[in-house]
Amino acid sequence: MLDRLNHVAIAVPDLQAGARVYRDTLGAKVSEPQPEPDHGVTVVFVELSNTKIELLEPLGENSPIQKFLDKNPSGGIHHICYEVVDIYAARNRLVSEGSRVLGDGEPKIGAHGKPVLFLHPKDFCGTLVELEQA
Ligand code: CO
Repeated sequence: MLDRLNHVAIAVPDLQAGARVYRDTLGAKVSEPQPEPDHGVTVVFVELSNTKIELLEPLGENSPIQKFLDKNPSGGIHHICYEVVDIYAARNRLVSEGSRVLGDGEPKIGAHGKPVLFLHPKDFCGTLVELEQA
């Protein structure tokens, strides 16, 4: 079911500081900050040759990453995103086997303009998993 690793998302309290670490300390190619008000985050993309890292900073009042940062004030890995060929087929199989899909269970258009779903961390080794239809 799973295909490529699309990205690893790291929540950070300070996006500029996070971007500096990846650009200056680690020598990675780092994008300009990109506000995504529909998703409640501002994102910096770290481009690697085989995948990307997304640094996420809360944007607005009800950011979905605020609670995570309250618990992890210096930041941390928030979720990992795997690509799937058919997100409905993946969802139906997972739900039929007892996995929990967050929200109303329907794919939403994610930050890359493609359908995504999030899976409950307690069902997946303590990791919030995003599935994206590639
Ligand atoms: Co993501």
